[in-house]
Parts: sequence; structure tokens; C-alpha cells
Amino acid sequence: MTLLSRSERAWWRDAVTYQIYIRSFADGNGDGIGDIEGIRSRLPYLKSLGVDAIWITPWYPSPQNDHGYDVANYMDIEPMYGTLEDAQRLIDETHQHGMKLIVDIVPNHCSDQHVWFQEAVNSPIGSAARDRFIFRDGKGENGELPPNNWQSVFGGPAWHRLNDADGNPEQWYLHLFAVEQPDFNWENPEVREHFEEILKFWLDRGVDGFRIDVAHALIKYPGLPDIPPQTHRTDTSKVDAEDFVTDANAEVTPPELRPTWDQEGVHEIYRAWRKILNSYPGDRMAVAEAWVSPASRIARYLRPDELANSFNFDFLTSRWEAKYLTHMINRAVDAMAEVGAPPSWVFNNHDVTRSVDRFDLGLQNRQSNTIERQGDPAKLDIARGTRRARAGALLMLALPGGAYIYQGEELAVPEVRDIPEDRLTDPIWKMSGYKDRGRDGCRVPIAWKSSVDGAFGFSTNSALAPTEAWLPQSPWWGSYSVESQAGIEGSTHSLYSEALAIRKGESGLGDGPMQWLDAGPDVIAFSRPGNFACYVNFGSPIEVPKGATVLLSSSALADNVIPTDTAVWLRLS
Ligand code: GLC
Repeated sequence: MTLLSRSERAWWRDAVTYQIYIRSFADGNGDGIGDIEGIRSRLPYLKSLGVDAIWITPWYPSPQNDHGYDVANYMDIEPMYGTLEDAQRLIDETHQHGMKLIVDIVPNHCSDQHVWFQEAVNSPIGSAARDRFIFRDGKGENGELPPNNWQSVFGGPAWHRLNDADGNPEQWYLHLFAVEQPDFNWENPEVREHFEEILKFWLDRGVDGFRIDVAHALIKYPGLPDIPPQTHRTDTSKVDAEDFVTDANAEVTPPELRPTWDQEGVHEIYRAWRKILNSYPGDRMAVAEAWVSPASRIARYLRPDELANSFNFDFLTSRWEAKYLTHMINRAVDAMAEVGAPPSWVFNNHDVTRSVDRFDLGLQNRQSNTIERQGDPAKLDIARGTRRARAGALLMLALPGGAYIYQGEELAVPEVRDIPEDRLTDPIWKMSGYKDRGRDGCRVPIAWKSSVDGAFGFSTNSALAPTEAWLPQSPWWGSYSVESQAGIEGSTHSLYSEALAIRKGESGLGDGPMQWLDAGPDVIAFSRPGNFACYVNFGSPIEVPKGATVLLSSSALADNVIPTDTAVWLRLS
């Protein structure tokens, strides 16, 4: 197979995409909540950082029970974020800056305020309106027990019982996430047609692609069987560390034992979506959020007639260890190659504890209580975590394929652990029975300035105090500001922008082959075309290979020695 050059192949095969969590990126109207105008005002920042594309988390009208992942109308804009005209202007201006824009689409569930769900609730049992969702009678003598034993990802049962107009309890509906997020019934053709219209609505406005929320959950196993207790996992990615190293040959869990995830029927939906994407000019794409494992299962979503791209979440569940990461990289690269898709690496997003903390504490994205999610703060060494996150960044940006950067990652912000309990907003906090603080700690509004005015420059309203932003910013937050890092030698911001500039100039980076180099068990080393090499040292200090020139390093090198937890980019002789 001849490899196309970067300018010939589809943009998303190499792209570095910046994830904007809209509530927390930049507030352009002074209300303490991020918005479209805020993003627009920061396009020059994104351009100069050097990213190729931006992904915006859901911006549709929503009661914000899950901060926009509970969509009330997929073809409009949430008033607190702006208008459809503002969205159009942002799409056009992003393109004028030479970047692409992708939007988030949430097909598994909507908000309980969506007109369809309101209609369903007010329609009789068995009606067509109810068939767009998953309603069932309860078990037990009077239907007082949920229809099966499925658990919500956020905690508690995945079913909620309705009351009829007279206040008498009647049917239950399925919500794999919050109570306010009823699951659609994807067996119903009306649901399929609705989403096809939504895709066209945004494609007509010029978006370059979609991030598909919980892409693996749309179809449920027929009959909605109970999940046997021993296999009761809400998420197939939650494999044990030991499984992880050996699971290349692991048997895939039979579909009836994971009735809510990764069912064969989802692929037919994405084949239809591919046809729509292909009917538009340009390389319109879709990226799946599919928490499935092993990587061979992810690859199935990327077959040529399905989705182009999928997040590879392995780094979110990985310990900081050379052996472990090497195995994971090999497995992902091999699985993607089989379907001709590039891997797309992810270190951070709005759902997981920040990589500074994760890599330091060896967290594997477990989520049943705060200590599992965020790790033990007494053991946290932020300096070491920062070193690792910086080294990891050079690793990720040198690997084959694309990468996704989550806002604040380029500033090495740590997880925020000191949000007062009465200010926590993630539904996980309540649904876990107040055991798990949830994801607010990685969603605190960005500090653009070091001084407190305008919530560290997050808001155009200079009178807004850091505690008045929608999620309060802690007093120390300003030390992670853009102002304190952009253009400052040695800052993490400078590391990312230098790495992205080098990446643009190196035609061997992005999609394409890699070759492992042997540098010992505690080092990940590989080369890319053009005599480019990346060395990541997890063990005791090592020397830069003879004759190599250092292009960039994640921490300072003394006497050509690569310290522990450091990555270097090299030109080999
Ligand atoms: C995805 C989103 C997450 C959201 C959930 C339900 O996992 O990334 O933020 O809560 O779906 O929509």
C-alpha cells in the first residue's frame, strides 16, 4: 500500500484536535459561564497554539443536568451560550483561521425536557410516542421493582418509574446515565430518521465532523436481560491492570453479558451515517466515544464503511510504566492497521481525573468513589506528575495518528480537589450517594490571567470573582494561567506549542509507520520516517543516543543525559 503524503490524505488522520468544554473555556457575556463568543475571542490563541481542529462539547438547548449531554433540542443553540447565528459565525471564523470544527452529538439519550420525551410521558402506555424511548412495566406484584438489574453509569438503578396524571405509579423508563437522560429506542425508525436530519442540519452549516457520545450504547440486547452479578460492569473498559497486560488474546465478553454495550446492531447505524458524511464535500468525519475493549473491538467502529475515527482511551486507564504502555500502543496500532484507520490518542477529557494526577498516582479511571477516582491526595507529588504529563505529551504527539488535547492540558493543570461540596454540580455526586465527587475537578474554568479579576480572566466581566464562576476557581488557580505560561520558556504551554510546530514540519509524524527501538526495559523508544525518534525514559537516567540531535525535551537535559520521567524528540544521525 502506498502511503499518501500528509497534504493528500484526509485531515483527521493527522489532526491534533483541541477539546473545548464550552462552559469552562471562556465567558464572553460576563455571566460566569463559558459561551460561543468566548470561544470566538480565543480563536487566535488556539491558532497560535498550533492545533488543527476544535471539538466543542454540546452547545444545544439543555436544562444542563449533565451540562449539555442532556439535549432538549438538537437543532438549536442553548441561549446561555449564544444563538444559531453566533454558531455559524464561529464555524466560519474557525475555518478562516485554517482550523476545522467538530460538534458533539448525543444519540444514546436526550433530556427529559425534549419534546419527544414530554410527549411520551403524556401519552398512554404502548403508544407510538412511548416507543421512541425504552419504557417497560416493573417487576413484582405491583410493578414496584425495576424491569431488570441494570445500573446507571452515574450510580443507582438505570430505571426510573413514572407517575400517571393522578399520581399513581406506572411504567419505568431506561436511563443509562442521569434520571433526566432517557435512552432512545434505536429500534424505532423515527429515531434513526431524526438523527440523520440532525447530522445534515449541522453539516449544512459547515461543521467538519461529529464526536459521537457513548457511541457503543445505542442498541440494547433483545429482551433486556439481567446482567449476572459476576459480570456486572457498567463499563467494559474497567479491566484489571493484570488483565490489561494479557488481554490481547482475551475472549470478548458475550453480547448477552454486556447487554447495554457494543452490540452488533450499532454498526448498521454508523454505516448509514457514513453515507451521509460522504455525501458532503470535504473530508467530513466522525469520532466515536466508544468505551470498549480490547482495541480490536474499537477497530470494528472504524471499518471503511463506518466511522473514520475513534478515541483510543488506553492512556486514560494506563499506569505510568514502559512495559504497560508499550503493550497498549502495540495493540492499538495493530488493531487500527487492520481496518486502515489511524489511532487517535487521548490523555485527558472532561470525564476523567487530570493526567498530572493520574500518571503520578497510577490511577486507572476507576469510578466508584472519590478516592478511586482521584487517588489519595496525601500521596500526590504534583511536580512528578507534571514531569510525567509533559513527557507523556511528547510521547502522544510522536505516536502514529491523531491526538486530542483537552483544554488546560497545555497548561499542565492538576485535578481540582478543593471545590466545596455545596458547589459540586456533577450528577455523579448525588447519584453515587455522595461517595464520588465526580468530574467537576477537571472542569474548572480556565485561568487566562494570573490576577483574580474576571475570574482569572475567564470572564469579560472584570468584577466577577473566582468563586463566582459557575464552578468556583480556587485561590491557587491563577498560577496555572495562560498569561503565566504563553511565550515563557520552559512552561508547559511552550512545550505544547513547540511540539505542535515541530509536528507540523515533520512529514513523518502523524499518520504513518513507527519502528520500535531497543533502549532497555524502562524506556519507550521508537523512530518515525525522516530519522525522527522519540525516547521516553521511565527509569534511571540514560544518555542521549550517540550522534543524535535533540529537537525538544520535556525537561531540561544536563550533559546529554535524559532524566527519569522525561521524553526527548531526536534527529538520529
Ligand atoms: C459521555 C460524556 C459524558 C456524559 C455521558 C452521558 O461519556 O463524555 O460527559 O456525562 O456521555 O452523556
